[in-house]
Parts: sequence; C-alpha cells; structure tokens
Amino acid sequence: MKLKNGSFGFFRKNVGIDLGTANTLVYVTGRGIVVNEPTYVAVNEKTGRVMAVGNEAKNMQGRTPLNIKVIRPLVDGVISDFEMAQEIMRHFLKRVNKQRGFSLFHTGVVGVPNELTEVERKSVEDAIVGAGVSKAYIIESALAAALGARLPVHEPVANMIVDIGGGTTEVAIISMGGTVTVKSIKIAGDKLNEDIIKFVKDEFHLAIGQATAEQIKIEVASAVPQKEQLSIDIRGRDLATGLPKEIILKDSHVRAAIAKSLEKIIAAVREVIEVSPPELVGDILRQGIHMCGGGSLLRGIDDLIEKELNVKTQIVEDPLTCVARGTGIAVEDLKNYSYVLDNPLKPKDIKL
Ligand SMILES: Nc1ncnc2c1ncn2[C@@H]1O[C@H](COP(=O)(O)OP(=O)(O)OP(=O)(O)O)[C@@H](O)[C@H]1O
Ligand SMILES: [Mg+2]
Repeated sequence: MKLKNGSFGFFRKNVGIDLGTANTLVYVTGRGIVVNEPTYVAVNEKTGRVMAVGNEAKNMQGRTPLNIKVIRPLVDGVISDFEMAQEIMRHFLKRVNKQRGFSLFHTGVVGVPNELTEVERKSVEDAIVGAGVSKAYIIESALAAALGARLPVHEPVANMIVDIGGGTTEVAIISMGGTVTVKSIKIAGDKLNEDIIKFVKDEFHLAIGQATAEQIKIEVASAVPQKEQLSIDIRGRDLATGLPKEIILKDSHVRAAIAKSLEKIIAAVREVIEVSPPELVGDILRQGIHMCGGGSLLRGIDDLIEKELNVKTQIVEDPLTCVARGTGIAVEDLKNYSYVLDNPLKPKDIKL
C-alpha cells in the first residue's frame, strides 16, 4: 500500500547504527543487532567494483593482488572515504532488508564521536541516507554507550564512560541526558597495533603486518602483568636478510610496546576528572568508571586505570556492542529519546 505522502513509512523499521573505525553494527527495531562486521571494503581499482565488504574484506587484508585494494573508509572515527563508507552501509542495510523483504528503513540513529565538526556530522547523515534510510539523526557515541550500558543517564548524576575503540578513545561524563565533559584522543586499538609493529621492527628486525599485530594484541597483550605468562610465535620478514623468520614474543615485550599509548589514555581520563565540577567528581568516585569499546578487552586495562587514578573501574557487559545497543534503545522509543539526539526530532518526524 502506498501512502498519500508517497512513502511506505508505515511498514518500515528503524535502525540504530554504530559506524566505527574498526567495526560497524546495525540494530533493527524489534530484532536487535543484525550486523556486526569490520568497517572494511575490498575494491577492484581498475573497474571500481566492490569485491567484498565486512569480514570477507578484512580477511583479504595484506593478501590481495595489486589491482584489489582493501580500504578502511573511516580514520580516527571520521569518514575519510565517503563513497566507500556509503557503499559499506548500503551493502549491510541491503542484506538486512533482503531478509525481511522491506525496501527501506525509516529513521536511523547513528552514534558519532563528540569532536566531529558540523560538516563531518552531515557527511555521516548523508552516508546513511544515501544507503537507504529516509531520515538520519546523530547521537553522541559516549551517550549511546552509556544508554547501552544501562547507566542512569537521565538522572542528575555523573556517569563516566571511557570508550576505547579502533581509532579514538573517548572519555565522557554524562548527566541528565547530555554530555557534561568530553575528551577524544586518537590513541586507541589501531595505535596499539602500530606500537606492536614498531616494537617488533626495532627490537627483532622483523616486519609484520596489521593482522599479525592485532593477533598479538588479542592473544598476549596486557596492561599490567597477569598471573599467567603468555607468549606467541610470530612469523615475518627479516629486515636484514629479507627472508622469513620466526620469533617468540612474550607478554612483557608487548606491554613495553604499548605502555606509552596506555599512559596517554590514562592522562586523558585524568584530565576529564580534573576539569569536572567537584559534585560530579564525588559522583564518579561513588559510581566508578565504566569502560567499553574493543580496547577495553585488553587484559588488565581496568586494573591499570583503577591503580593509576584510584577510582573503581569496570568493563560494561558486552563492550563491543554497547554503542549499537544504545542507538537501539533510542530508535525503539524515539518519542522519549528524541531529546538525546543531536538534531532533535520534530514531533511529526517521530515514527513509532
Ligand atoms: N581482546 C581484545 N584485546 C584488545 N583489543 C581488542 C580486543 N578485541 C578487539 N580489540 C580491539 O578493539 C578495537 C575495535 O573496537 P571497536 O569495535 O569498539 O572500535 P570502533 O567502534 O570501530 O572504533 P571507533 O569507536 O574508534 O570509531 C580494535 O582496535 C581491536 O583490535
Ligand atoms: Mg566505537
């Protein structure tokens, strides 16, 4: 049935989107998270044809022939390749649509980092609209994370969120449905991978790729010494001979490699606490710090922050999905959550 205004809005679902530097998640109303894949796309440079998106594209990284390029269209939380970001969204939304037989989504709520400029925010909205969502609204991702973690964001009490993603670490204090203080730094999971690549190169004269660095981080990295000592066999190219070489990397090596970046993350958290009004600092001491994002899965990162800042620190349940779940909470109840959106809905825009 076609409605008078020419839309099929009556039948269409809403989506919540976390378009992250490392991972993209899509939440569909009534269904939950239906897409959770890397923000990667593989393109044939000669023809411009998209060869693969998401997991499939990430698995091709470092293994493609010359004419196929694996692209990450977001850098430090910002869209750097608009066309490809839109291509990824279009692909994911189409896949979800096909399963349900719907043509389009009505309203999309997208989480974005706080420091995005108006132009960058607009480009996120445009990418989502171009990918098949009629209306796009922005929510600050720290606020979405706090919602997803089920923190009392509406109350006049400080909720502190530390989201360590792929490209950015965002530290925010949320109270009464808004961001009170926020700081973003471009030191997060990707930087830790680079630290590991550099360390292995400097100390072992071995060249390794991004995928190996990430594997090292996930398998043996820790922020503070753990009960169990870990190690990993690494193969790469000897920079002196040019031949393949194998080394054993210990957790202590990786800790040394990432220590400086972790210090900067802790400095950012400290700074946000330092500039916050005294009442809120009291709340933070009582409520503690809540960590999320893939980087919070680093072994002992909560212990390190707790030790350095003397504030109780915990990792939220399912930290990789919490921004997406937060956008989901907003799209499931747009009427009540419109005030948390960056560009609030007009009453006529609210579709339930
Ligand atoms: N077990 C783990 N230990 C350490 N780091 C991890 C682990 N699992 C995932 N990560 C890292 O988490 C990062 C991805 O996290 P997340 O999906 O929250 O980022 P994102 O939301 O896409 O990025 P951003 O928020 O910066 O735009 C990657 O750098 C990944 O290597
Ligand atoms: Mg994120």
